[in-house]
Amino acid sequence: MSVSADPAAAGFRFPTERSRALFERLGRTLPGANTRTATYFPPYPLALSHGDGAHVWDADGNRLIDLVNNYTSLVHGHAHPAVTEAIAQAAATGTVFPSPIAEQAELAERICARVDSVQRLRFTNSGTEATMHALRLARAATGRELVVKAHDGYHGSADTLPSSLGATRGVPAGVLDTIRWVDYNAPDQLAEVVAREGERIAAIVLEPVLGAGVLPAERAFLVAARAAADRCGALLVLDEVVTFRLHVGGWQAELGVTPDLTTFGKLIGGGLPVGAFGGRAALLDLYDPRAAAVLGHHGTFNGNALTMAAGIVSLDLLTAEEVARINALGARLADGLRSQVAAHGLDAVVTEAGSLVQVHFEAGPVMRCGADLRPGSALLARFHREALEEGVYVAPRGELNVTTAMDEAIVDEALAGIDRALARIAAGDATPA
Ligand SMILES: Cc1ncc(COP(=O)(O)O)c(C=O)c1O
Repeated sequence: MSVSADPAAAGFRFPTERSRALFERLGRTLPGANTRTATYFPPYPLALSHGDGAHVWDADGNRLIDLVNNYTSLVHGHAHPAVTEAIAQAAATGTVFPSPIAEQAELAERICARVDSVQRLRFTNSGTEATMHALRLARAATGRELVVKAHDGYHGSADTLPSSLGATRGVPAGVLDTIRWVDYNAPDQLAEVVAREGERIAAIVLEPVLGAGVLPAERAFLVAARAAADRCGALLVLDEVVTFRLHVGGWQAELGVTPDLTTFGKLIGGGLPVGAFGGRAALLDLYDPRAAAVLGHHGTFNGNALTMAAGIVSLDLLTAEEVARINALGARLADGLRSQVAAHGLDAVVTEAGSLVQVHFEAGPVMRCGADLRPGSALLARFHREALEEGVYVAPRGELNVTTAMDEAIVDEALAGIDRALARIAAGDATPA
């Protein structure tokens, strides 16, 4: 079935004919011209053709400052020369081998050296696989089945860890029965579920910052999760797929909470598909192929040479100084946005965690858990659209992030564009979303 963009709704103030043509063409082979749900926005998404550092260009030649950065995976922005060079070299000598390769050791050693709780790890091809396998490992290690997770906690698209009760279509009832839901930042709910069903719980799986909304965990919540897991003999799994960018040791180092297992993705692949999960040697050694009852974990592309090469460079470039620098840029962006929404008298709240920022409209003032989010806000849709009009590429849900390809000047340039967008919204003459 083909999809047509509604021409009446198009109305971008810059040319988007090529984006629209690609949308129509793709709609003949991909449902809704889409192969990644969250990336759609009406009337049709801009078709991005290339990127360089802090910028992306669309197919019609419009240049935008990129505050999405492929949903945080491009921590060094687009086409960093050292990353590109490493990928080119690896591509020229073979992309993947069904054998150990030195680059697997190089990347694994870098991650283990940074994250105290990780002594051994396994590579996967996505963050989804990483959390899926971490949970399976927890089940194998404990012999239990239940998992405790947060409402709106996003861990990828595996059946075993749906993000919310509204996102379970097609998930077998038996799988859903293994999930116990708690509100993010609600330690009392963790205590209650552990008191009730503790001996059946294999794992508590949490993000250190709730990605859906950039809502940081209060330290007391993760401390309570650690204590709850210890009380009932479950494993604490921290999903640092995104938050590994916030501190060289992961956000767990900042919070001083030690998980049993940690999952990684995004930045550790240098822009290529990746994931990893790791923890104590005694746990991960269940995967030792020499073991009598080995726990299987397969994958044609696990630890492939291209991803390893890009990931090694990505980590080497992400020094403690660079982490601190982009966290400061994130704070600059968040502070600037807060001043702007106040100056324009808009009903908006800005949340932040280091280099991650989110603008929430028609929400708050207290933002602690998924129930506080307003993803369907009409103002949010307008903000997204008007920011695009000003050449600032932001995620439809209002999430922004900054990279090592940026400096204060580019953050200020993005803020200036956003300020014009907010002024139009406040004046009520924004393009209807
Ligand atoms: C916290 C978290 N975990 C897991 C994932 C899934 O990673 P992937 O998209 O690589 O499957 C994501 C993706 O956004 C994420 O934000």
